[in-house]
Amino acid sequence: MNSIVVIGGGGHAKVVISILRKMKKYRILGYTDIKDNGTLLGISYLGSDVELLSFPAEPGTIQAVLAVGQIGLGNLRQQLWQALQPLRLSFPLIASPHSIVNEEVSGGEAATIMDGAVVNTGAVLGRGAIVNTNSTVEHDVVLEDWVHIGPGATICGGVTVGQFSMIGAGVTVIQGIKIEASCVVGAGATVVADLTEPGLYVGSPAHRIK
Ligand SMILES: CC(C)(COP(=O)(O)OP(=O)(O)OC[C@H]1O[C@@H](n2cnc3c(N)ncnc32)[C@H](O)[C@@H]1OP(=O)(O)O)[C@@H](O)C(=O)NCCC(=O)NCCS
Repeated sequence: MNSIVVIGGGGHAKVVISILRKMKKYRILGYTDIKDNGTLLGISYLGSDVELLSFPAEPGTIQAVLAVGQIGLGNLRQQLWQALQPLRLSFPLIASPHSIVNEEVSGGEAATIMDGAVVNTGAVLGRGAIVNTNSTVEHDVVLEDWVHIGPGATICGGVTVGQFSMIGAGVTVIQGIKIEASCVVGAGATVVADLTEPGLYVGSPAHRIK
């Protein structure tokens, strides 16, 4: 069994821990966070991320999962990942056994795919992508790095979601749309035209409000 460290100790981390358990592939060493949140689903606190440096293991032998949630833009998750680079952790794709990841899906370093999600043929998962519970990432979708697809969202075929963007819960993005980097799409929106500038978009059809 591979050893894995969970980076983050909030609600999103609990979901990730449950998925790791179901995968039956990893021995969870513990979680890191800036603060001690006590035992998390039976998983102990290891300390802050930098304290991993003193962990008794050869550099490069420990795997990690980035389990910090993202409401809004993904920049903070990227910064955290960047700060962890000296530790030479590896960040495998973590996909729930209750998700469906079809043929020819590529990428996915430090990405997570939650229960009930479907990632279809030809999709590309950028670094750190979160494909949340019951969401659908259709064929040939490109999720750039540090994107979060919220629970129940539907991203139709051939869509591109730009770096750091978040697609809220229950959003529908119709086929072929291009979403610029650093866009937040509020829960329940319907995106029927390209989102060409960073900002906050809500409604059906989605329109920019900030
Ligand atoms: C869009 C969102 C991020 C809020 O952003 P915010 O910058 O805090 O915006 P505010 O709450 O100040 O709202 C700004 C305006 O947008 C409206 N608004 C916010 N979210 C909206 C939504 N999803 N749909 C329609 N209107 C929305 C607010 O009513 C407010 O309108 P007003 O200015 O007329 O009063 C949040 O509402 C949202 O949808 N989050 C996604 C939640 C989600 O998917 N969670 C998954 C977690 S796993």
